[in-house]
Amino acid sequence: METDQLFDQNDCRMMSRALQLAAKGFPRATPNPLVGCVLVRGGKILSHGFHRRFGGPHAEIEALRGLRSYTRGATAYVTFEPCSYWGKTPPCVDALIKAGVSKVIAATGDPNSRVRGRGFSLLRRAGIEVMTGCLQKEARSLNLPFETQMSLKRPYVILKAAMTLDGKIADKNGQSKWITSDSARAMSWKIRSIIDAIGVGVGTVVADNPEFSSHGFGRNPLRVIFDPLLRLPGRVRVIQTDHAATIIVTAARHSPRLNELFNKHVELLFVGKNEGGLNLSETMRYLALKGVQTLLIEGGARTHAYFLEQNLVDEVLWFTAPKLIGGAQAKSVISGRGLNLTQAARLTSWNVYRAGADLLIHGTLNPQGLFWTILNKHLQGNHQALSLSQSHPSPRIPQSFVYA
Ligand SMILES: NC(=O)c1ccc[n+]([C@@H]2O[C@H](COP(=O)([O-])OP(=O)(O)OC[C@H]3O[C@@H](n4cnc5c(N)ncnc54)[C@H](OP(=O)(O)O)[C@@H]3O)[C@@H](O)[C@H]2O)c1
Ligand SMILES: [Zn+2]
Repeated sequence: METDQLFDQNDCRMMSRALQLAAKGFPRATPNPLVGCVLVRGGKILSHGFHRRFGGPHAEIEALRGLRSYTRGATAYVTFEPCSYWGKTPPCVDALIKAGVSKVIAATGDPNSRVRGRGFSLLRRAGIEVMTGCLQKEARSLNLPFETQMSLKRPYVILKAAMTLDGKIADKNGQSKWITSDSARAMSWKIRSIIDAIGVGVGTVVADNPEFSSHGFGRNPLRVIFDPLLRLPGRVRVIQTDHAATIIVTAARHSPRLNELFNKHVELLFVGKNEGGLNLSETMRYLALKGVQTLLIEGGARTHAYFLEQNLVDEVLWFTAPKLIGGAQAKSVISGRGLNLTQAARLTSWNVYRAGADLLIHGTLNPQGLFWTILNKHLQGNHQALSLSQSHPSPRIPQSFVYA
């Protein structure tokens, strides 16, 4: 088993640079993995590149571009296994072989079954020395959504809520507009623009009639509504607006309302239902197959509970307003059966930010790390209101990579 011990300080420095570059591809490179490449000869960086956008040149091609024979005998540091098949662009393995590089140092392999080690073996067969595993944990953390989609066949799930300091997401009358400040809401819109899909329970759609758009911050995510009995009214915004497609997940195969809800941007997904609610594994597999890598669950309390109880939460984004409202009837952020304290889902890593007048607690339950270190960076760079007030990042991620 190869580990970081095989690599010297210089290797780690070059790979760290390649990881920084790779992170720049977020979010335009998705659903492809984020990849960076640094070409080195005689201890000097010849060039570098990263995968900037989906459909565009891969990192290796960007780095090799214009170098002609200078690349003979060079070492390529790549954050991800070079591709060996024709996709939207020719295989990077061929380009590296043609360029005459003598060594490839990779951070991690490609979990995609079309590649999985094939890129490395083709390079080795062409006489190129290949070493893998340099800063592997960091590289995998960078591409957690991609990895989750490929390996677990489900999207990476983030629960997002706006709550009071006493954990309420609505008051005793069901009113939730607005718990948090304008800044926090703008930040949520921005987050919507960089994820693939929003998931929400029918209770929230009925109570708030939201549109779930990114309010001009960028692309609008796919909307996924969990509605076991098909009680969604036909006149709600998620049905009437078409800035994004809507999938209604339901078990009501024979509902007389099927025709009423069907229109050109609304899809009905029929799944099974048991005491754990709608079959979420089936739903998640379908979404992953559709290319959804990141799913932001935006409430309400029951929907949060279904995801928590089925161990389907990777990260949380808790916008917390410095307000107290109390009330046994006022909904808490997660309802359902609940877990015993001994089974509590624990954040393995977390950060606290200031979001206007509110706090944002962002943490991960995923033992592999915090994918949204990239998101943190993204938000910090783009949102003046956000400032880091306390940090507890996973220890292995180099600071230069996290906040560069
Ligand atoms: N502040 C915030 O961040 C925020 C965000 C969203 C909503 N809210 C507030 O929260 C309230 C709504 O919360 P809620 O808990 O009543 O509604 P909800 O979670 O939005 O929707 C609950 C409904 O969805 C169904 N459902 C969701 N996931 C399911 C699954 N996996 N399997 C089966 N059924 C599923 C439930 O079915 P069953 O009844 O069969 O379980 C129930 O009918 C509103 O007052 C809204 O304003 C606040
Ligand atoms: Zn490639």
